Amino acid sequence: MNEELKENGNINFPDEEQFGQFISQYRQLMLLYESAVQCVTVRLDTIGKEVTIREQRSPIRTVTSRIKEPHSIYQKLQKRGYPLTLESIMEHLNDIAGVRVICEYLQDVYAIRDALISGGTIRLVREKDYIKHPKPNGYRSLHMIVDVPVMLCEGEKYVRCEIQIRTTAMDSWAGLEHNLRYKKDRAQDCNTDQKLKRCASLLAESDSLMQEIADELGLFWNI
Ligand code: GTP
Ligand code: MG
Repeated sequence: MNEELKENGNINFPDEEQFGQFISQYRQLMLLYESAVQCVTVRLDTIGKEVTIREQRSPIRTVTSRIKEPHSIYQKLQKRGYPLTLESIMEHLNDIAGVRVICEYLQDVYAIRDALISGGTIRLVREKDYIKHPKPNGYRSLHMIVDVPVMLCEGEKYVRCEIQIRTTAMDSWAGLEHNLRYKKDRAQDCNTDQKLKRCASLLAESDSLMQEIADELGLFWNI
């Protein structure tokens, strides 16, 4: 993220003392968000193993996670005009903890989504279905904002986490597009945009066809 900001050339470096205080507060938050990510990844691991035993295939290819950098949090709060406090971070920012799940088939995306929230432990707060409603640039993915319970000595605390679930095809497009364009100040090129969108459609068509094949072979699961 820092590299991205440097590249943009429009960094608003905060006052050093203020930034120092912010970072030390942020470290206290780390434990909560790391625990939330662990809770989600452990659940995903179990889902993957359970389906593998039952269906002889794992629907999950990879699970990655990240915790947002303090500098990036500071900037987001400033940009949106929220106070720089721990409470404000927990209340207003949904993507401090992020988990990305890459799966095989379209149907896996929704089956994983259902399995994640089925037990009621992980609570769905909001969902954005960029698969059924792709972004204008062609971006596709299922985004979930969830609340995850973290057990502390003082008791249970619910921590917000963003989960992105997508197929390998969607992920390959998003990765390339991110490098080319996303959140960068490059001049918009209409021709490039159209080609990128076309690539996204072709990959979506491929995902649909692959799903058809999976359906024909009876590769269906649900928890
Ligand atoms: P942010 O403030 O950037 O987090 O956006 P948001 O709160 O409107 O959330 P949204 O669910 O739309 O997107 C959040 C995340 O999805 C981003 O941080 C990216 O990881 C991913 N994402 C969203 N749109 C795009 C896109 O057009 N291209 C790529 N490559 N990734 C995207
Ligand atoms: Mg984000």
